[in-house]
Amino acid sequence: MKSFRAIFAAGAILAAGLAIVAESQTTPPAPTVDRVFFPADYQNWQVLYTIDRPDNKQQRVIYGNDLAAAVIRGGEWDYPQGSILVMETWPTVKDDQGNPVLDENGRFVKMGDTYAGTVFVSRKGPGLGVDYGPNRNGDWAYTAYHTDGTFQTVPQNTFSCAACHLQVGTGTDFVFHNTLHTNGASGALPNNVILNYKFVGENTVKVGQTYTVYNQDVLTHTSSSWMMAVSVPAPSPRELRLRSCQPSPARISTIAQFTPP
Ligand code: HEC
Repeated sequence: MKSFRAIFAAGAILAAGLAIVAESQTTPPAPTVDRVFFPADYQNWQVLYTIDRPDNKQQRVIYGNDLAAAVIRGGEWDYPQGSILVMETWPTVKDDQGNPVLDENGRFVKMGDTYAGTVFVSRKGPGLGVDYGPNRNGDWAYTAYHTDGTFQTVPQNTFSCAACHLQVGTGTDFVFHNTLHTNGASGALPNNVILNYKFVGENTVKVGQTYTVYNQDVLTHTSSSWMMAVSVPAPSPRELRLRSCQPSPARISTIAQFTPP
């Protein structure tokens, strides 16, 4: 009897679980026709930034048409209507340990010359986002294509794009890393970040190495307030040691890219 009850209870739990699965399998709303369109000439557009992803060892290149490239940092709904953004996700060259090889600027190196991956596209236009219902991202619509312009993701399945990009919110108009472009940053590995007055990650840099600093703080930091040169004995190269900084009234560009002396 005891075992019967146990089996019954297990069955009830299973049934409840299936009901939850069934419910979550309801397809969220999405466009039924493509209104993004494959921008065949996108590789002639401006590269807004190139971001190295240490987690999946990819280099991602984000292009924008002229309207998208004209976006300025500021209030909500920044991107002009007609903006189109394209993302390529490149595999990278790896060393024997499987870690991405870095070029002289500390950047990942793309594998291959011709892009053969998915072409992710988002287009902003009046009312374009309405079909996503609760996942609507303002006026953005999404589609992913193969390089020949055929669908990688049919419009009906692009609810997943909208649902994920929804996390970004209106602050940067549902676009991830928008500030890399608006701040003129390169998108180098995000291990040189000033966050709450401190560097996160690697904090020494060898002479001659180009070093890109990202400031995630609202406050602008000056280079003299957070950078300290230290001498190390020969034959080691001299290094710059980067430390936490104090708020400074002097404001310079929030992003500094420099080659140490
Ligand atoms: C799980 C979350 C997620 C999903 C799903 C997703 N994206 Fe993204 N997308 C990102 C992230 C994160 C970035 C920023 C690049 C990075 O950090 O790798 C990005 C960047 C982009 C960009 C560059 C501009 C921008 O908005 O940042 C485009 C275009 C884009 N995605 C289109 C799509 C399309 C089309 C789909 C669906 C086929 C899609 N994305 C699905 C997370 C997602």
